[in-house]
Amino acid sequence: MKEWYDKINNTRSVGSLEKIRIAVFGKKGILAEKFAQMKTAKNDEKAQIAKELNTYKSSLMNEYVAKKITLQTLELQAAMQAESIDVSLHSSKSQTGALHPVMETMDRIVEYFASMNFAVKTGNMIEDDFNNFEALNLPKYHPARDMQDTFYFKDEMLLRTHTSPVQIRTMMSTKPPIRMIAPGAVFRRDYDLTHTPMFHQVEGLLVEEEGKVSFANLKYILEDFLKYMFGDIEVRFRPSFFPFTEPSAEVDISCVFCSGKGCRICSKTGWLEVLGCGIVDQNVFEAVKYKNVSGYAFGLGVERFAMLIHQIGDLRSLFEGDIKLLEQFQ
Ligand code: PHE
Repeated sequence: MKEWYDKINNTRSVGSLEKIRIAVFGKKGILAEKFAQMKTAKNDEKAQIAKELNTYKSSLMNEYVAKKITLQTLELQAAMQAESIDVSLHSSKSQTGALHPVMETMDRIVEYFASMNFAVKTGNMIEDDFNNFEALNLPKYHPARDMQDTFYFKDEMLLRTHTSPVQIRTMMSTKPPIRMIAPGAVFRRDYDLTHTPMFHQVEGLLVEEEGKVSFANLKYILEDFLKYMFGDIEVRFRPSFFPFTEPSAEVDISCVFCSGKGCRICSKTGWLEVLGCGIVDQNVFEAVKYKNVSGYAFGLGVERFAMLIHQIGDLRSLFEGDIKLLEQFQ
């Protein structure tokens, strides 16, 4: 019987101690077996055998319990040691954040116009029909409203489809002259390779006394701005239509991917459209009760600028927050 004392004593783990416990104290263990054998012993010997077996059992049990506590303590200590974290250790791989390319591009655009003395104004993303459309020479049921697919709420409220309402609100609350840009998020019901339901715009507005602003002024500042953003490129103005400007133009730059030779990105034309602009329509000034003024306005999509500057192929990658893409802009 001494062998079981030794076995218990020599055990090194809680797991193998448990195996011994089953072998000794279990239902089919050696103690159970010995007690069973006792039944066949002579009657006058039974009491003596039972006494010895019980003494033996309780001393083995003491041994087992003591060993178990020791092993458990040791295993806990080992686990704590293995899992401990040295907070003073230097980590060699820490990731650094960076400004998102869209925000970085927006900052550069704002920087240019701020240096030209344009005030930076922001407004609400939830707007009403008057400020987003009506005051911009876009009466209800005007077909040009289809140019901007709109998210509507109840009661003629909507998500602004451009930042032009910021300009309307500024004109309603300030006297001319005005020189401002309106950067911010805008929303349209659009989703494909080149459109996302939310994107960013920077729009600009300049208002002066009547006769003091011409298309030449607009042309000059936009050319200068585009060269600041894209470097050595050519700029061209194409006649276009916007309800709030007359005359209106769209502005192209020579393709930054092929230097104007013609490639897949510019659809072999050598030109990329980057801006809308024009001389503010008098109906807009009427809506905000401005008299004897003239002005110009322009608007651009920041995502498109970011894609052209950083040569990013898929607009949607700007919205996925993939760390691999963002890491490149540190
Ligand atoms: N508001 C126009 C748009 O979002 C952009 C624009 C602004 C065009 C000013 C011309 C003049 O489509």
